[in-house]
Amino acid sequence: MRVIIESDALAASRRAARFIADQIRRKPDTVLGLATGSSPLETYRELIRLHQTEGLDFAQVTTFNLDEYVGLGPSHPQSYRHFMQQHLFDHVNLAPSKTHVPDGRALDFEVHCRVYEQQIRDAGGIDLQLLGIGTDGHIAFNEPGSSLGSRTRLKTLASETIRDNARFFGGEEKVPRLAVTMGVGTILESRRCLLLAFGPKKAEAVRNTVEGPITAQVTATALQLHREVVGIFDEAAARLL
Ligand code: GLP
Repeated sequence: MRVIIESDALAASRRAARFIADQIRRKPDTVLGLATGSSPLETYRELIRLHQTEGLDFAQVTTFNLDEYVGLGPSHPQSYRHFMQQHLFDHVNLAPSKTHVPDGRALDFEVHCRVYEQQIRDAGGIDLQLLGIGTDGHIAFNEPGSSLGSRTRLKTLASETIRDNARFFGGEEKVPRLAVTMGVGTILESRRCLLLAFGPKKAEAVRNTVEGPITAQVTATALQLHREVVGIFDEAAARLL
């Protein structure tokens, strides 16, 4: 993993946005893997700014999001589809038909997950996958114990993740217990990965991911097996390296 440490989250997010923008300029029909959560927020803000001020062009870009809560539709304020519309899709010239987020209300999740993976393959595979990391070191919703070869599927959320996300839902009991998520194996097939982690709460997960043994208990450690991963951290998240 190539590790880049910036002084704070804002500087790190700007660096990440430039990295993504370079990829889009080099390959206008880039397939981007996208993430939700607080970590990529500032990166999306900067991408919108680059679109508005420098004409960064998303017209040919295709996107696939990592995950979605089961049971939440696109209009639910905590659904990841809603998050993406609000923080990126509605503000750049992405074709709506080229944005993909797993459907939290699919009728048959087995079929839906298979089709989602097929759509990624049909698009030519993911060129650049953006990733955040959970405090327990998970990527997407690949909670501790997920197979490192896993594919897109349903996953039960770990209690730590439910606790972490309760603030968005106004209470732990309101957080969905299940999510549909790309697998670790799916993520590892991306041509490049860009991992973001900010703040002291991520320091242990970052140390385990970069320097720890590869283990299904910390699914981000699987990124050590990937040839092209860039980690952009702020000083607080990198302080145990
Ligand atoms: C959730 C998401 C992950 C994200 C993680 C960390 O579990 N499924 O994709 O990386 O939260 O979120 P945050 O960036 O808000 O710390």
